[in-house]
Amino acid sequence: MEKIFLQALRKEKTTRAPFWLMRQAGRYLPEYRKIRETHPDFLKFCFTPKDAAEVTLQPIHRFKMDAAILFSDILVIPHAMGMKVWFEKGEGPKLEPITSAEKLSRLDVGKVNEALSPVYETIERVKEKLPDETALIGFAGGPWTVACYMVEGGSSKEFSAARGWAYADEKGFSQLIEKITDATITYLFSQANTGAEAIQIFDSWSGVLPADQFEKWVIAPTKKIISALKKSFPSLPIIGFPRAAGANIIPYVEHTGVDAVGVDTQMPLVWAKENLSGAVLQGNLDPVLLASDLKETEKHVREILNAMRGTPFIFNLGHGVLPHTPPEHVARLAEIVRGNG
Ligand code: CP3
Repeated sequence: MEKIFLQALRKEKTTRAPFWLMRQAGRYLPEYRKIRETHPDFLKFCFTPKDAAEVTLQPIHRFKMDAAILFSDILVIPHAMGMKVWFEKGEGPKLEPITSAEKLSRLDVGKVNEALSPVYETIERVKEKLPDETALIGFAGGPWTVACYMVEGGSSKEFSAARGWAYADEKGFSQLIEKITDATITYLFSQANTGAEAIQIFDSWSGVLPADQFEKWVIAPTKKIISALKKSFPSLPIIGFPRAAGANIIPYVEHTGVDAVGVDTQMPLVWAKENLSGAVLQGNLDPVLLASDLKETEKHVREILNAMRGTPFIFNLGHGVLPHTPPEHVARLAEIVRGNG
């Protein structure tokens, strides 16, 4: 069966816009929280194929999205290279930070496949149970965003430690980016090899960089990842999500080789349509709206669908589903996008 999500990524005409939601597997679903409770350690949860496969499929069972996204995290890459990574309740990720080039020898790119083999098993399990019409998306973080967490040691508003290192010691920082990039290529290659049908690269913190830095730390490594993947999987569609990139998204689409691009909440879709014609667009309902008001959500979903009719388009949010989102709101969104409401 032709999967509508893959058709849209190939710029083929579709009967309606396909849809999925970033962070569609997660805490807003009671069935997720139930399984999550049995795993005090979030990374171990990601590395338990039976449970990771189940939570990957949970939103599909409820809402029939056109694509499932693998349940894992962008921070499995620093873990797989030998860094200490853990998640603290209510605080998000914590890492033992790497702040200078001397520490880089600690990072071992050679063990990535061994460390992440449970994730590949999750993919195989999901593929066995996925409905015929649903595609599976694999993913990784963009090297810049992963570096942000590795250098900062956790979340931050500005990621000034990573940015500062990149300015003060470009050569050392580029070695860090190169290691992450190589590990990411290995990881995504194996995801495609075990059954991921499309890949999304989440560059959540691309928006903190000025244009010259954006070119060095976002565009160049993303381009390297995509050309490596396309050598082995020429028809594997790749979605880039350079969140909050502003006008830097224009050279991103032009130079990285992405097939599709995630449009974030703040970017006008009409502007994206006019300026990013090289890529299939994906986006961009405000996740805060989805969590807050159903009537306004319905109105905005219809507006987005109307504005994008006739162009290759994948309906999504402008960032991830928020934990306090009522599942009924997601159900209504799904109904409207599928044309039954
Ligand atoms: O449906 C899905 O998208 C599931 C797979 C997925 C997760 N994280 C699971 C997760 C994906 C695609 C991600 C991507 C991710 N992880 C990003 C990029 C997207 C974005 O939101 O910008 C980033 C920056 C991370 C790093 C990360 N992981 C943070 C900052 C946090 C803590 C904040 C939060 O949202 O809880 C996580 C934890 C995490 N990753 C959770 C989930 C479901 C919540 C963990 C829990 O259950 O307590």
